[in-house]
Amino acid sequence: MKRTYIEELSKHQGEEVTLKGWLYHKRSSGKIKFLVMRDGTGIVQGVLVKGAASDEVFDCFDKLTQESSFVMKGKAKKEDRAPGGYEIEVSDIEIVSVAQDYPITPKEHGVEFLMDRRHLWLRSSRQHAVLRIRHEIIRAIREFFDSRGFLLLDAPIFTPAACEGTSTLFETDYFDLGKAYLTQSGQLYGEAGAMAFGKVYVFGPTFRAEKSKTRRHLTEFWMVEPEVAYFDLNDDMDLAEEFLEHIVQSVLKNRMPELKTLERNTEFLENVKRPLPRITYDEAVDILKRKGVNFEWGNDFGGSDETVISEQFDRPVMVHRYPAKIKAFYMKRDPQNSDLALALDVLAPEGYGEIIGGSQREDDLDILTQRIREHSLPQDAFEWYLDLRRYGSVPHAGFGLGVERTVGWICGLDHVRETIPFARMIYRLTP
Ligand code: 4AD
Ligand code: MG
Repeated sequence: MKRTYIEELSKHQGEEVTLKGWLYHKRSSGKIKFLVMRDGTGIVQGVLVKGAASDEVFDCFDKLTQESSFVMKGKAKKEDRAPGGYEIEVSDIEIVSVAQDYPITPKEHGVEFLMDRRHLWLRSSRQHAVLRIRHEIIRAIREFFDSRGFLLLDAPIFTPAACEGTSTLFETDYFDLGKAYLTQSGQLYGEAGAMAFGKVYVFGPTFRAEKSKTRRHLTEFWMVEPEVAYFDLNDDMDLAEEFLEHIVQSVLKNRMPELKTLERNTEFLENVKRPLPRITYDEAVDILKRKGVNFEWGNDFGGSDETVISEQFDRPVMVHRYPAKIKAFYMKRDPQNSDLALALDVLAPEGYGEIIGGSQREDDLDILTQRIREHSLPQDAFEWYLDLRRYGSVPHAGFGLGVERTVGWICGLDHVRETIPFARMIYRLTP
């Protein structure tokens, strides 16, 4: 008989179906036995009634342990009281593999215990909700750019030099060519793409040897980076707010059951509509001062500063024009004040902090060459990048959105470790 997925049961009411999955849990109530199967697309309750199901089927029920794999046949019917909303009147069970002592039981486990068993933890309903929302966010990201004529440009992962400063580079030997570094950002390649195709987005894994053990830092994370020729900082901010609105509204539209599973209060998410507030770095510093935070102009915001600033707003806030000396070498200076960079950070509400970093790029050959020197970067490795200023240089801008921080914020999680299937952090390389 053809296999049915649990999520399709509504189309098979009253029919005999064959379901293939794993045992979530089971219980007995007098002569009736209940088992809950999960198949990755949902859960459904099977009911065994003496007389209706054979003794062999009841034997199988006894042998099934949590996470044993099995095939179940029976009639599907709607049952609002059952988990998942459907019930199977079981006529046959075939055991595929009996699981011995599955380590993740319904009792509470510590987060490190679960992270050590992440390969199994992925089967739980909460992790399903998080990773389905991640999937929806990635789908919405691609849809946004694809429907606006952006070309997907894949940047290399092995690179000859730093993009975001040398302090967080992962280094590896590269045959006879010396050292290679894992990319911190595909942006520089995105800029080459923008000069070739007008508007592109780079989307891939990025790597930072961050020593920070915070709830916002991974050593390997996914970033999506649009880059557009003839864009200035304002255009960049317009794009960023439209982009965030699209992502959040897509999740609200398509993943409400998952947000409910996570008990996410969606009030702040509903607010993510254009226009988003825009404030300068100076105005953000004023907020900190007003709130009694001891902060010196010229420093970068720490996680707790970002929390204080974002708490003043009911939706993400865009902070622009940061002191140039705390920002990357490639950012263009503000023509009104050369101490400032035409930089943009977007801070998520509810204390989630920076989810987007971006800027207008320096498009003048001499100034950019000078910046590379000031940052003690190897000019050889950047000659190709300087070519973009030698041959038809134009104003351009872009930004990078961190996927995991965005998932963490939208799901309302207190740590990014659950936002990616297998997290890589300073103290975690397994499983
Ligand atoms: O602000 P960042 O460093 O910007 C760039 O890399 C630019 N080249 C982007 C561009 O303009 N094309 O990083 C961008 C975003 C951050 O806002 C944050 O969401 C995420 O990447 N991010 C991290 N996420 C998880 N763990 C880390 N260690 C992260 N570092 C940055
Ligand atoms: Mg940043």
